[in-house]
Amino acid sequence: MCPRSFKDLLSAEESLFRSPEVFDPDYVPEEYLHRGEQMQSIAQCIKPALRGERPLNALIYGPPATGKTTAMRKLFEELEDIPEATRIARVHINCQINATKFGIFSLIHKAVVGHLPPETGVPFSRVYEAIFRKLRRENKVLLVVLDDMDHLFYDRYANEILYDILRAHEVFPGAKTGIFSIVSSTEFLYKLDDRVRSMFRPQEIYFPPYSAGEMYDILKRRAELGFFAGVISDELVEKIATYAYEHGDLRLGIELLRVSAHIAEYHASRKITEEHVEEAYAKSRVATLRSLVEPLSKEDKLLLKLLCEAEQGITSGKLYERFSKASGLSYTKFYRILTKLEELRLVDTKVASGDKRGRSREIFLRHPREELLKVLP
Ligand SMILES: Nc1ncnc2c1ncn2[C@@H]1O[C@H](COP(=O)(O)OP(=O)(O)OP(=O)(O)O)[C@@H](O)[C@H]1O
Ligand SMILES: [Mg+2]
Repeated sequence: MCPRSFKDLLSAEESLFRSPEVFDPDYVPEEYLHRGEQMQSIAQCIKPALRGERPLNALIYGPPATGKTTAMRKLFEELEDIPEATRIARVHINCQINATKFGIFSLIHKAVVGHLPPETGVPFSRVYEAIFRKLRRENKVLLVVLDDMDHLFYDRYANEILYDILRAHEVFPGAKTGIFSIVSSTEFLYKLDDRVRSMFRPQEIYFPPYSAGEMYDILKRRAELGFFAGVISDELVEKIATYAYEHGDLRLGIELLRVSAHIAEYHASRKITEEHVEEAYAKSRVATLRSLVEPLSKEDKLLLKLLCEAEQGITSGKLYERFSKASGLSYTKFYRILTKLEELRLVDTKVASGDKRGRSREIFLRHPREELLKVLP
């Protein structure tokens, strides 16, 4: 039957989704599976704060989509139900979005004082003072979660920010502060100044990649919550878990569940089939790549483009020649961008064969170049 209007099209089929929100990126899962050990370590760090003492600093690290942000969201949610937690002024900051010192302290100000400071005309020292005076008056401990803290290093704010939080007791005796940093690897520690490192001394809490079986459990539970019964078979959840495992990315698995169901709906099917999953897989790979590439700067994208045009395994020297010709930028800048692309897992680098001093690197794209070119301007 040919639809006559949008209304026909929009009401044509019933949905396969019982709760579509469980596939949203900011959904906090009710059941947080396979992370008992990490939760215990995090609880140990926060316990002193419940008694009004300084929390232990923590360094939460591990590859993407291993549940680090979720752990903090669960923790904050559960603290709401603990009466002693009213002693902890707490804030979870996404450093990818808030990458300046003022931006970060504004959010701390909001969490402690109740509102953001004015955007202009207020010196940093005033914002800083307002935070710690209020904490002292209320006898509260401050816990700052700096999520995706790696991002602060692109502009070198990290040391200053950590320092200003950790040294607060020098300026305001009795101030009690703790930081939970979320990063992709412990290399982060080596980028800190000595004086900051010696104050920080975090408990290291590792979030390892999920096994295929763990991914299956998590995806199965998500499908049960999100879809009506019978929409997806266990075999297809397993297939999706295998794709997610191969890419080391649980997020891809969640996205595949969601997109497969939309494709099934589009075909007016009451069930997800293998073809729907395959179609979703082809689409999602490009979409995932786009979300990684789009936020990059013009220079980052230029370097990535040059890499797409070069042979796999091009040496850093050769690549820099091309980059500097196209952009006029320095080697330091080039090296910083290359490191960033590596941290984002867009490229792999290894020491060039035959280079005994270990200074020249060979660079490899981690994604098919045709797919990268689709998402580059
Ligand atoms: N143990 C788990 N149980 C249920 N869902 C999980 C679990 N771990 C992760 N997820 C889900 O996987 C997705 C990614 O998790 P999260 O954002 O916490 O990862 P992350 O480690 O912070 O990743 P990144 O380093 O990229 O920021 C989210 O949708 C989250 O709900
Ligand atoms: Mg995260």
